[in-house]
Amino acid sequence: MARKVIIDCDPGLDDAMALCMALFDPRLDVLAVTAVGGNCSPAQATRNVQAIIEQLDPPRWPRLGTASAPDDGLPVDGRYLHGSDGLGDSDFEVAELHHPHPSEKLICDEIRAQPEGVVTILALGPLTNVARAFARDPELPSLVGQVVMMGGAVAGPGNITPTAEFNMYCDPNAAQAIFRSHSTKTLVPLDVTNRVVLSYDLFNRLPDELSKVGRFLRKILPPAFRGYRQQFGLEGIHVHDAVALVAVTQPELFTTEEMAGDVEVTGELTTGATVFDRRGVPAWRNNMDVAVDMRTDAVIETIIQGLNDAARREG
Ligand code: RIB
Ligand code: CA
Repeated sequence: MARKVIIDCDPGLDDAMALCMALFDPRLDVLAVTAVGGNCSPAQATRNVQAIIEQLDPPRWPRLGTASAPDDGLPVDGRYLHGSDGLGDSDFEVAELHHPHPSEKLICDEIRAQPEGVVTILALGPLTNVARAFARDPELPSLVGQVVMMGGAVAGPGNITPTAEFNMYCDPNAAQAIFRSHSTKTLVPLDVTNRVVLSYDLFNRLPDELSKVGRFLRKILPPAFRGYRQQFGLEGIHVHDAVALVAVTQPELFTTEEMAGDVEVTGELTTGATVFDRRGVPAWRNNMDVAVDMRTDAVIETIIQGLNDAARREG
């Protein structure tokens, strides 16, 4: 039985890579892809989700959710790495969105339409939509099977500020609400996702341009290599969200620890920081599993294999 998932994302190049894998993976039944602002504006993220689905034309089209801005607005965006349109300045044409559904409403509807505990939310962007869905339907945290979040940092630094990871920083109040919710949560933080770098050699192992997946990836990714070289002097790009997807499809490649986590929402220097009680005798109650290690080479191979499998499954 395929695992039912809702993918909430702010595409974003690594979000797009995760979608290429997920939409063709027979182990997954992608019920919905819900857009959230982050790497780009809410309107652009909504447009990008539709563009990705149209470019990939997967065997089963998921329902699409439209993004709206967080209550306090987006403090930053990811255009410096993901391009002005969030997809490497690829400027894809999209058809008009039919029957737009707000992302948070779609999340509620899809979870309510399934038996309790069978739907996984894979959150690859700021947690605005998930927090709004939980506020809209207070029973949702106990109805959803698992919330898997790419974001935060345990022992390492942030990436958008010295203390905060991008997804948490974009909407810290939403992140805190999810951390404090009674849902079953797994966090995939920078401590592990930073260890995967898509090098030029790995880029050359992506499916070729005879496939839709190959054409799509080879169009959106190259500009990011320039951005990473200029910003970080790195000869490759991070693919955080593709790593988080592998944590859903092949959790055996990860080592997790139960932890007690929360999110700073007011600090001048620390807003968006994820804080974990790792004192000898913790006072906070454990509220999530955190990926603290992974078999990095196996995860990299799984990503490359997953993208090539997707190309083969296009039909
Ligand atoms: O910090 C990395 C995360 O922020 C990734 O999900 C990336 O797509 C951006 O959303
Ligand atoms: Ca993302």
